[in-house]
Amino acid sequence: MKPESLAQEVAQRRTFAIISHPDAGKTTITEQMLLFGGVIRSAGTVKGKKSGNYATSDWMEIEKKRGISVTSSVMEFNYHDKHINILDTPGHEDFSEDTYRTLMAVDAAVMVIDSAKGIEAQTKKLFKVVKQRGIPIFTFMNKLDRDGREPLDLIGELEDLLQIEGCAMNWPMGSGKNLVGLYDLYHNQIELYHADQPQERFLPLDEQGHLPADHPLTHDSIYRQTLEEVGLIQAAGNPFDQAKIAQGEQTPVFFGSALTNFGVQTFLDEFIKMAPAPSAHQLVDGRQLAATDDQFSGFVFKIQANMNPKHRDRIAFVRIGSGEFEPGMDVTLQRTQKSLRLNNATEFMSDQRERVKKAVAGDIVGLYDTGNFQIGDTLYSGKTAIEYPALPQFTPELFMEVTAKNVMKQKSFHKGMQQLVQEGAVQLYRSYQTGDYILGAVGQLQFEVFKFRMQNEYNTEVIMKPIGSRIARWIDPEQLDPKMSSSRNLLVKDMADQPLFLFENQFAEHWFQEKYPQVKLTAKL
Ligand code: G4P
Repeated sequence: MKPESLAQEVAQRRTFAIISHPDAGKTTITEQMLLFGGVIRSAGTVKGKKSGNYATSDWMEIEKKRGISVTSSVMEFNYHDKHINILDTPGHEDFSEDTYRTLMAVDAAVMVIDSAKGIEAQTKKLFKVVKQRGIPIFTFMNKLDRDGREPLDLIGELEDLLQIEGCAMNWPMGSGKNLVGLYDLYHNQIELYHADQPQERFLPLDEQGHLPADHPLTHDSIYRQTLEEVGLIQAAGNPFDQAKIAQGEQTPVFFGSALTNFGVQTFLDEFIKMAPAPSAHQLVDGRQLAATDDQFSGFVFKIQANMNPKHRDRIAFVRIGSGEFEPGMDVTLQRTQKSLRLNNATEFMSDQRERVKKAVAGDIVGLYDTGNFQIGDTLYSGKTAIEYPALPQFTPELFMEVTAKNVMKQKSFHKGMQQLVQEGAVQLYRSYQTGDYILGAVGQLQFEVFKFRMQNEYNTEVIMKPIGSRIARWIDPEQLDPKMSSSRNLLVKDMADQPLFLFENQFAEHWFQEKYPQVKLTAKL
């Protein structure tokens, strides 16, 4: 591809993830966006919870049983002049490290909030990861067709709970049964919830932000109240600040109702204009690598095994950081310096996988893997070495002791364990005293998937004994005295042989700190 064409292609990319708490409406919004992109023809195809029509990306039996998707998938489509990649962040019981790692591969995040509930626990966790990356975050306050909390209250909560400024782009005119529309501050118009004709959907406002005096809505108390509220936020709210948005210090806030498809397109239209195209990445050697650099490079942010149960394949998900990907190209795997030919690649749609035709910086490609890749690996073409920074580790919160049921199966038990841990599905620890295996995960389902796959892929039945939710804290090996271990904590080693304590609860951690004030404990995140 010529440099100008590469630059043009990259500029069209918008790669983002939606962060939300379960049931806030992430799937519904995603579906609306896929409808606008022409990828699906009717809503309800991505997650047919009730209909039982599962998306073909739900590849595992266990997923089918539960009607949820175990690991993140990628949806891509064209909308207007943009090429959009939505990276799914599994959120229900399937919340996992994959969810977090996916956030390392996006250029922006969309935060969906249920306007009746406000900011919930999982949104907060995911927000923390996105905020650390300093990427733009766009907020969609959903379910306006129901009575929710006061909009001012919702915006205030962004600041109070997330320490991010909210800047209203539009303002609800009523809610629930009394929803009239959206007052669009950015375009100085009103978007009606119910318009008789499509061309009547938008009502232009005058320079003062008012409707013409003879418009029937001017007699409506909701309109007058909206003007008051809008006046208030214009006077006292956060002024729109593009630089702050770019750094994730301010979030543009849009209101709407995904279920009734109100405000979603307005949101998407603004989002694609305001969200960034892929930009330069800082490399380990300190260099800034432009997305438009003609040298291909990317990093593996997720590995998923056996997407097709008939074949024992693994797929490594690669976020392209620079240049263009071509099937059959030769690349270097930075960690091993091995040369590889990338023959077999796939790109992702919501409900089908296709062979890659063209992929550039910002896109995700899936590479069929026979065990070459690890999470965090860098791939690059050409001669100049490229290394992306390591992906952060996310501290597990749930732990299980695991043993093989049949002692004769030790060999396959260890093999399965090693491979699944390498994929990053679960974290492995060993008891300091006994050497017993302990698994750690961010979400409960990861254990079930682990058990299922050990049985199905490695023919090993495992016994898992929950040791519950624990707080993992690392300790400097120099400061460690194994006697510090007590009934309230469990001393283990991680895969890199680093010691850590798994505390029963916060109280146990505080008690430990009081007893050993000189000891420095650290959480990875
Ligand atoms: P999630 O992916 O964030 O978990 O949420 P999802 O889109 O599945 O939405 C959760 C529930 O909220 C669904 O109802 C969905 O129809 C509803 N919902 C989403 N957006 C809106 C909205 O704007 N207004 C209203 N009133 N409801 C909304 P459900 O009955 O649990 O889903 P389903 O069983 O019909 O799939």
